[in-house]
Amino acid sequence: MKKILKVGALLVATTLMVALGGCGSKDKPAEAPKADKKIVVGFAQIGAESEWRTANTESIKSSMAAAGMDLKFSDAQQKQENQIKAIRSFIQQKVDVIAFSPVVETGWDAVLQEAKAAKIPVVLTDRAVKLSSGNPEDFYVTFMGSDFKEEGKRAAKWLVDFMKKGSEPVNVVELQGTTGSAPAIDRKTGWEEVMKDHPNYKIIKSQTGDFTRAKGKEVMESFLKSAKAEGQKIDVLYAHNDDMAIGAIQAIEEAGLKPGKDIIIVSIDGVKGAFEAMIAGKLNCSVECSPLLGPQLVEVVKDLVAGKQIPKRILTNEGVFPADVAAKELPNRKY
Ligand code: AHR
Repeated sequence: MKKILKVGALLVATTLMVALGGCGSKDKPAEAPKADKKIVVGFAQIGAESEWRTANTESIKSSMAAAGMDLKFSDAQQKQENQIKAIRSFIQQKVDVIAFSPVVETGWDAVLQEAKAAKIPVVLTDRAVKLSSGNPEDFYVTFMGSDFKEEGKRAAKWLVDFMKKGSEPVNVVELQGTTGSAPAIDRKTGWEEVMKDHPNYKIIKSQTGDFTRAKGKEVMESFLKSAKAEGQKIDVLYAHNDDMAIGAIQAIEEAGLKPGKDIIIVSIDGVKGAFEAMIAGKLNCSVECSPLLGPQLVEVVKDLVAGKQIPKRILTNEGVFPADVAAKELPNRKY
């Protein structure tokens, strides 16, 4: 597949223009900052688990600084309890807007209710939440980021098209993202939706690699070992992010196999490291997931403070990058 499957221009906002009940004024901070006062934003980041996350943090920090906003940034080191603590501290500090990227989907009910009671608007960046009861949309003003299910579908479609195996059996191993996180759940669901029409693609092993290189390597080592002991051949690795794929590439090489040839690899994110691996012939395709959400967050914060209506979903449009376009595309990559 030679062409890049660009779905549209970068970061095209829109979909549902669903306002919160009474949106504008209701989402406006309790006391809108005066013109001479800096807007204060509390951002509770997940951690620094991947090249993607580092680029996301950089995008948020640099965009906020360029807009002259006061950013209170917290790194939760991939622990939900730390993110909740950070959000509570933002509430106490009476920041103007709280933004966060939820490490897992569930367990946010109480803290979101506290933010709502304090009349501080909440913006979800990158990942969605699920509540144990009630409508999550009542607790955030907008959710900006990618469609993870679509990414899983794109990875599966690319693979079927690339392999051209008809009904021949294909053994797939899967490195899942953080257990309970929106991207891990949705990327698996999207993949399965496509593969239900291709039952010869069988996931023979699946485990979390927590979105990190180190875990990706460790889990791939155990996949290779157990597949060998069971006399199974691994044809494909589907990794929910590039970092885990890059870790797995090391494990495959250490096992004396050729990544990208003996085992076909498709992963998600489109970070520079993945492009380098594709150019080296070790990775076959990366599905794009853009971390560059900072500029959009700045716009949303400005609109919120101004009492404007905000779209409930701001969707990031992205492409698919097979290895044969990697060398041409690498110079254009921003993360
Ligand atoms: O939520 C986005 C995911 O989180 C990225 O795919 C992954 O690399 C990151 O850690």
